[in-house]
Amino acid sequence: MVRTLDEVERVGVVGAGTMGSGIAQVAAQAGYDVTMRDIEQDFVDSGFETIEDSLDRFVARDSIDDEEKAGILDRIEGTTALADLADCDVVVEAALEEMDVKQDIFADLEAIVDEECLLATNTSTLSITTIASAIDSESRVVGLHFMNPVPVMEGVEIVEGEKSSADALELAHAFAADLGKTTWESDDKPGFVANRILMPWINEGIRAFDEGVATKEDIDTGMELGTNVPMGPLTLADHIGLDICLHASETLHEELGDRYKPAYLLKRKVAAGDLGKKTGEGFYEYD
Ligand code: CAA
Repeated sequence: MVRTLDEVERVGVVGAGTMGSGIAQVAAQAGYDVTMRDIEQDFVDSGFETIEDSLDRFVARDSIDDEEKAGILDRIEGTTALADLADCDVVVEAALEEMDVKQDIFADLEAIVDEECLLATNTSTLSITTIASAIDSESRVVGLHFMNPVPVMEGVEIVEGEKSSADALELAHAFAADLGKTTWESDDKPGFVANRILMPWINEGIRAFDEGVATKEDIDTGMELGTNVPMGPLTLADHIGLDICLHASETLHEELGDRYKPAYLLKRKVAAGDLGKKTGEGFYEYD
């Protein structure tokens, strides 16, 4: 049995990248003590910078004041030692999207945390069941898939692995709700709900551009104004990161076949190092 929500005090986050730092931030904003771990101090420092930038935006729109910002930052401890997650009640893993890496982390975590700690993974496409198979206590593993940017996106996808227990799923829903998020549940099928549907949409937008259906601006405008999405497929791909889109598409392609084949232009852009907003150029250019 995992803990109930009222017993959760400290949250561990493995990975201080875009997703990990966002998860650490929303947990601290909800009042939890947080331990954010990455493998190098530079990554931890950069995670804190991302959090501070985001909190500054909340301050700028008067959602929080400077004192609350300082309190949130104080509640987050950074570390490079996984062993520092020993007293966590919930751990969310947001490391590289590689099965071996995740399985190793879960195996290490199982030896570090107590048996009532919920072990969640933020994976966007990998199988929860396969990740969980690396440990003995598989029933406490669930998917807790946050959306980017975590501090502003309301939705969280809860993924039920083959062995996930009812109490682990219940805690995952309650924890996400306590962070101010709204949840939906997906079975452990490739891409779950969000990426299974989003990635073909993005790839089709890229193919439409590559095949000269319309300019990139018109493809994005057409989808924004024509279907009421906040951003079209090419802009959204740039925001997510083209490398992440390609990796997710490749996983889906491998599992689900040709209808998920990544667009050729997506592969070429990633090969050229044009990964979107984070590198200053993807389908568009950024300052
Ligand atoms: N932290 C805090 N506040 C933030 C923020 C952050 N990281 N990012 C944006 N904001 C705030 C801004 O400060 C701004 O606040 P005000 O309105 O008070 O000025 C507000 O959000 C709007 O921001 P912007 O005007 O700068 O930018 P925007 O109009 O593009 O809106 C957004 C931001 C709502 C996130 C919008 O870009 C959007 O909807 N993006 C699409 C996000 C999306 O679809 N995410 C899912 C990706 S798929 C995924 O995550 C799954 C996966 O596994 C790949």
